[in-house]
Amino acid sequence: MRDEYVGSATFADVAELRRFCGPIDETIQQELNRGAYNLDTVLDSKTRGELHRAVNSSLPVVDSLSADLTIEVEKGLSKLTFRMEETELEVDNPVGIWACRCDDPTESDCPIHTHPHGDAVFNTLTEDIIRVHYDGIDIWWVVTPSLFPLSRDPIYAYENLLADGIATANISSVLDIGCGTGFLGTSIAASNPNVEAVRFGDQLLMPVMISKLNQQRNNPDQSCYPALTDGFNAQIGWDHQPTKLADVCVCNPPYLPVADGEVKTEFSPGFVDSGLLEEVIRRGDDVADTVYLHISDLARSEAAEAAAEYNAELNVVGEKRTVPFRLTAALDSPTYVEHLLDCGLQERRADKYQYWHDLATYRIDYN
Ligand SMILES: C[S@@+](CC[C@H](N)C(=O)[O-])C[C@H]1O[C@@H](n2cnc3c(N)ncnc32)[C@H](O)[C@@H]1O
Repeated sequence: MRDEYVGSATFADVAELRRFCGPIDETIQQELNRGAYNLDTVLDSKTRGELHRAVNSSLPVVDSLSADLTIEVEKGLSKLTFRMEETELEVDNPVGIWACRCDDPTESDCPIHTHPHGDAVFNTLTEDIIRVHYDGIDIWWVVTPSLFPLSRDPIYAYENLLADGIATANISSVLDIGCGTGFLGTSIAASNPNVEAVRFGDQLLMPVMISKLNQQRNNPDQSCYPALTDGFNAQIGWDHQPTKLADVCVCNPPYLPVADGEVKTEFSPGFVDSGLLEEVIRRGDDVADTVYLHISDLARSEAAEAAAEYNAELNVVGEKRTVPFRLTAALDSPTYVEHLLDCGLQERRADKYQYWHDLATYRIDYN
């Protein structure tokens, strides 16, 4: 079956990839909003065939690729350098990769918008193709609604995994589930010379294709197995899906806790959702030998409940960090903010940032 699809489906450029993925991701989002996810019933057979080819093809995802903006990220996120044509803009100790702070009422010195070329950089951050350079690898990030931007979370998670010895571990395969840009799987694979293959899974198509692109460009000698998945279950890709998917599974899932139905609908799926983190705790033991989960303490009760139910222990690896809460869209709803405060959001009225939370990477040990 697989051979039928291999050998075709390279997109001319990112614009073409975007045009292909956009409508499919919209359809998937609608399905997710309804609580269902069955592509066979919502996509016609021609689109399904193209989708199979795009995901399964071993050819490069795009023929031509160039970045409008490059962001160099120092280890520990101690500094960002934005480079664009003649412009260079440096930000020391940024609160995240999205470094504009204009939306923060307590902030008077947005490091982007106080710079003479700040507007140009900011406009690129909102609509173009961005290359993030970190620790010897290049992660391409296409600004598009269905692709979660590369953020500080996976960078902290990766650094925590390095502290836990991931770069020298005796592993030949990695699974990055809920992959987004694929930063976690790609960077682990680049760090460890024993790795031969990386699997990526995401419920949306653009993340799957961009993760494939990032793995192809950074680790061209390794195998890459992308799939559209619902949790660990492949909808498209991973033909003949084995029970054990990889030696190591990593996941930086959505971690904003679910409140009641009314609050939930104010956010898109994939934002306020604990389904993936629960799936990783529930099934991690079956799909990989070692399982890592990076979450905010805001999701600790969901995580603790799932861990108790599946006899799992969540053990912190690396450093637990208390950081400003930057998902500002979640702060628009006062009822949801109340809920977050109940879940452990820390309020520091006198501080430059009003809300803080704890981020940690856990190794899930099963008893
Ligand atoms: C917070 S983003 C993180 C992306 C990426 N891992 C990173 O660290 O940048 C979570 C990702 O999980 C995906 N996702 C959420 N629920 C999922 C599910 N049930 N199955 C597969 N992917 C899921 C979303 O589409 C999104 O790309």
